Amino acid sequence: MEPDWMPDELAHGGPEHFDAGFIAGFDRKQGHPDPSADIALLHGHGLSASSVVVDFGAGTGQFAVPAARHFGRVVAAEISPAMRDVLRERATAEGLSSLECAPGGFLTYEHTGAPADAVFTRHALHQLPDFWKVHALRRIAGILRPGGLLRVHDLIYDFQPDETEHFLENWLAGAADDPAVAYTRADLAEHVRTEHSTFRWLFEPMLTATGFEIVDTEFRASAYGSYTCVKR
Ligand SMILES: C[S@@+](CC[C@H](N)C(=O)[O-])C[C@H]1O[C@@H](n2cnc3c(N)ncnc32)[C@H](O)[C@@H]1O
Repeated sequence: MEPDWMPDELAHGGPEHFDAGFIAGFDRKQGHPDPSADIALLHGHGLSASSVVVDFGAGTGQFAVPAARHFGRVVAAEISPAMRDVLRERATAEGLSSLECAPGGFLTYEHTGAPADAVFTRHALHQLPDFWKVHALRRIAGILRPGGLLRVHDLIYDFQPDETEHFLENWLAGAADDPAVAYTRADLAEHVRTEHSTFRWLFEPMLTATGFEIVDTEFRASAYGSYTCVKR
């Protein structure tokens, strides 16, 4: 039984991620990020056909499905039943026995079997407020083997507090017009209002405090951060 101070993870999951209509257009709206650089990065850190990878907030499987062609066991951890349906269909269509679809997310997924060699997560950690991000990172550290890799992509703000209005107005002004093909000004404004993207200068100490060494960081447009970290 969960302690009474644990939040309901599903309540923080973003209502659109539970909506089959939104999910049907999700890949078009998200774009199709090329997974090959992340897969190569994992290979570069020694992962192979016998390695275990957990993808938190796997969504429609844009990373988990191609990763399952390379690694021995890929667990796509997803809190949304509708996303899990898409993942299962894709795994079956591709005959990917290495891809497992698991219910549960950052706060609830229970890992079994060999510790993970890598954890991947893209555009999902911001669903949690900062206190719970730290809890999530602790749980991730708990399922990784020592020396295991954490690869995080997320919307993280790389600016100083007094740049807030300037940054947000510029970011939102560059948004797409068509909500079917990308995120619009209204989508980004909703993200800022209702989700929990944090500052880079807050996020990095969270990684360090939870037992990770940051080995590489890249930022795009001061809003999209990518981290490679090793569990100490
Ligand atoms: C914007 S989508 C990203 C999906 C995928 N990672 C991608 O890049 O295409 C965010 C995903 O995180 C999931 N999610 C939300 N809260 C979560 C949590 N607490 N733990 C794990 N996944 C969560 C949502 O259900 C959704 O599938």
